[in-house]
Amino acid sequence: MTAPSVAGPAIRVQGLEKSYGKLDVLRGVDFDVARGSVFALLGSNGSGKTTTVKILATLLKADAGTASVNGFDVAAQPENARGSISLTGQFAAVDEVLSGRENLVLVAKLRHLKQPGTIADDLLGRFSLTEAGARKVSTYSGGMRRRLDIAMSLIGNSPVIFLDEPTSGLDPEARIEVWQAVKELADHGTTVLLTTQHLDEAEQLADRIAILHQGRIIVNGTLAELKRLFPPATVEYVEKQPTLEEIFLAIIGGAGKSDATGPDNAADTDTNAGHATGTNR
Ligand SMILES: Nc1ncnc2c1ncn2[C@@H]1O[C@H](COP(=O)(O)OP(=O)(O)OP(=O)(O)O)[C@@H](O)[C@H]1O
Ligand SMILES: [Mg+2]
Repeated sequence: MTAPSVAGPAIRVQGLEKSYGKLDVLRGVDFDVARGSVFALLGSNGSGKTTTVKILATLLKADAGTASVNGFDVAAQPENARGSISLTGQFAAVDEVLSGRENLVLVAKLRHLKQPGTIADDLLGRFSLTEAGARKVSTYSGGMRRRLDIAMSLIGNSPVIFLDEPTSGLDPEARIEVWQAVKELADHGTTVLLTTQHLDEAEQLADRIAILHQGRIIVNGTLAELKRLFPPATVEYVEKQPTLEEIFLAIIGGAGKSDATGPDNAADTDTNAGHATGTNR
């Protein structure tokens, strides 16, 4: 971990511009992320979320504007900026052949940390993967893989974590498990910037939400502030239809958590619908 060089926001983005050929993706993006907070960058497909994250992670250079992470300018001090971050990409990067625990131990060893086994066991516990720790990742459900992926990104205690669409491609139950993992990060004081296409995800997790649209941040505020921007809904007396997600969670609600299941039936569960009642931050 790299100590912050200055006080101030964990992430500061000012006037960021980026084009791919004739396609102007970012046209002057500005936002700050306070230390220890969860910030959601919301936008539809192709709005430039991954582009923004890549610039912040020093994987891509901006055409104009500035960005700093943990007080380090990503263009002028990329090594320091990189030392302050951890990135979980849009697709899980865990090794299928290894067990969950082996994946964690490997990353801890690569980072030259002492007691990699202790670090692995601690993270397995924090992300409800202790029972599944010895099993090959190829037997894990999508939600378990993402949780492991997030746990791996925590090794080394980076003060800032980028999660690019942490729940893309997951079913509602697995999304809730990943939400729990993100809340776990936030509870430990890590600054989290996550991208998502889903308002409900931002609602669940974020202290602040910014909407990226046509190359600019068109709204940036707390959920309460965002809600005030919309006129109050007209009340209509119609029977409320449950959402597919509510039906799904009601049906599977009785099943128990199955991190302990063996490879034979690993695909069918990993259920903990109780997570659905987790409180919002
Ligand atoms: N290397 C590249 N070369 C050319 N065009 C690119 C490149 N990377 C991204 N784009 C284009 O830039 C736009 C923004 O892409 P980006 O991946 O940042 O969007 P996104 O908001 O992350 O989208 P998604 O929700 O689909 O992940 C898209 O139109 C994309 O096709
Ligand atoms: Mg993307």
